[in-house]
Amino acid sequence: MDQAFEHRLAGWDGEHVVIRYDPASSTWMFVCIHSTRLGPAGGGTRLRVYPRPAAALADGLLLAKAMTTKLAVAGLPLGGGKAVLAVPALPDPVTRARIIDRYADLVASLRGTYLTGPDMNTSESDMDRIARRCPYVFCRSVAAGGSGSSAPATAVGVLHGIRASVQYALDAGDLRGISVLVQGLGGVGSHLARLLADAGATLLVADVDAGRVQQAVRALGAKPVEPDAVVGTACDVFAPCAIGGVIDLQAAETLTCRIVAGAANNQLTDPRVARQLRDRGVLYAPDFVINAGGALHGVGLEKLGWDQAELQRHLAGIGETLTGIYREADQDDISTHEAAQRLAQRRLDAAR
Ligand code: NAI
Ligand code: PHE
Repeated sequence: MDQAFEHRLAGWDGEHVVIRYDPASSTWMFVCIHSTRLGPAGGGTRLRVYPRPAAALADGLLLAKAMTTKLAVAGLPLGGGKAVLAVPALPDPVTRARIIDRYADLVASLRGTYLTGPDMNTSESDMDRIARRCPYVFCRSVAAGGSGSSAPATAVGVLHGIRASVQYALDAGDLRGISVLVQGLGGVGSHLARLLADAGATLLVADVDAGRVQQAVRALGAKPVEPDAVVGTACDVFAPCAIGGVIDLQAAETLTCRIVAGAANNQLTDPRVARQLRDRGVLYAPDFVINAGGALHGVGLEKLGWDQAELQRHLAGIGETLTGIYREADQDDISTHEAAQRLAQRRLDAAR
């Protein structure tokens, strides 16, 4: 194990990490189990190219910790985990199937301590394949008996969060004429863009995939923004729905929006950024609160026996939870990130 691994693991407060290397596909697999205090650890499977295996481990550790907080705030009976499959290049279908099978055997060997779902670059069809070898998986396709893609529910939850944020920061009761910049038009972002357009928002969109941008311009009347111009573009709401780490200390100084509210996990490079956003008068919707819709969808429908109406009630609850967090942050002059962490900690302490 190289020093980079040791350094990252020593600084982590989670429970355990399971590591496997698949020589046939040169893939590193990290299953990071941050906490099982509220139940078995739940969290998606991310497949990505990383510069080094240690960078993949670092991503998994951070994301697993965020899942503990996300699931606690969402009131779901699961702890937090995440799996990262660090591939040398995005795999062809045959290689993907082999990697997923090896990974499914790894998840099976954990005997239910870790329950997975989709995340970046994995989908319902991967979940269907995992389910052939182990039962610890959410969001299989509807045809295979699962609840299907979590992306639409995530988008609905983000929309509730944007509404609550706009009400709190701008005292606006609806989204008509509110400008929202959606970064990333994938499963979540494209659905969110449609919901925002339907609600009368002025839509700006950015994606590294020009075809997706063109589609939103044509179908929704969105205004395109260059991917590298996102941070400097004026808007009321910036909704990061692509990758993590989009707001560092420098970007927080440059942003001209009033609200940051989007789906991407780990949007801030550092919790200090949340304080800086507060000092600049930018309202930040903690990502692990506003993006809980995917987990509510998978866990609610498949584990807790919810119907669609119950799921929709919980998605609407994301807006109410955010309003409570904003009030506590203002009352105690702390960042919204800290206020959300406190809420999670209260729930974790209550389960001790
Ligand atoms: P996706 O992979 O379907 O879409 C991501 C989109 O972002 C793609 O269109 C891609 O071209 C674009 N993109 C990548 N890099 C970009 C950049 N630098 N600038 C602009 N666009 C860029 O992913 P999905 O499922 O829509 O998820 C989006 C984010 O939300 C991810 O960070 C994910 O972890 C997070 N999330 C997703 C949930 C879900 O239910 N799918 C649940 C909770 C969080
Ligand atoms: N990718 C989801 C998230 O980040 C993970 C997830 C989906 C977890 C479905 C459980 C069930 O929230």
